[in-house]
Amino acid sequence: MFDTMTMTKAVGAVCGSLLVLMLLNWASDSLYTVGGGHGGHGEGEIAQAYTIDTGEEAAPAEGEGEPVDLAAVLAAGDAAAGEAVFKKCGSCHKLDGSDGVGPHLNGVVGRNHAAVPGFAYSEAMAAKSAEPWTPEALYAFLENPKKAIPGTKMAFAGLPKSEDRANVIAYLAANP
Ligand code: HEC
Repeated sequence: MFDTMTMTKAVGAVCGSLLVLMLLNWASDSLYTVGGGHGGHGEGEIAQAYTIDTGEEAAPAEGEGEPVDLAAVLAAGDAAAGEAVFKKCGSCHKLDGSDGVGPHLNGVVGRNHAAVPGFAYSEAMAAKSAEPWTPEALYAFLENPKKAIPGTKMAFAGLPKSEDRANVIAYLAANP
């Protein structure tokens, strides 16, 4: 029944299908491998395709936690750049010893909280009058005043940029 011819045809059919499968496999490989290659270059590109910038690396400096090296951040503060930042404060704060909506800020670095005589501070600020305005305290307050001192009457949203805060603190320190 199974003569040589039938066997040959059967083997041929199997080999034929395998060949077609191999060809399809090869074709799909070359179709779907973008960048043409299985080499290191291709892998690099694939790795990059999954690198999505979520901003997470920058987040710790701006987020809830204090930056790892706050001293370095403050030391990098630039008074000249801080003068420009201070324009946001100037409608309420003066640096000539006179008070406006807010108390004068010349000499504020190292001064205690709520220490300007005659200025009507909020109770929240007055409650801290034993604490000095260290650069660190200013840095935290200026990021988000209402969060750092709940109840403050300073109506200012805050300086979200770390370097803006460091710069304006350097500027305040330069105005004793
Ligand atoms: C809309 C007006 C306003 C703006 C703008 C403003 N402040 Fe104030 N600031 C105030 C008031 C009012 C107080 C008093 C807060 C209290 O008694 O709770 C104050 C208090 C402060 C204090 C505490 C002073 C002390 O004697 O204890 C500091 C420091 C300060 N501001 C810094 C700044 C800086 C720096 C900026 C700009 C980045 C700024 N403020 C922007 C109104 C303002």
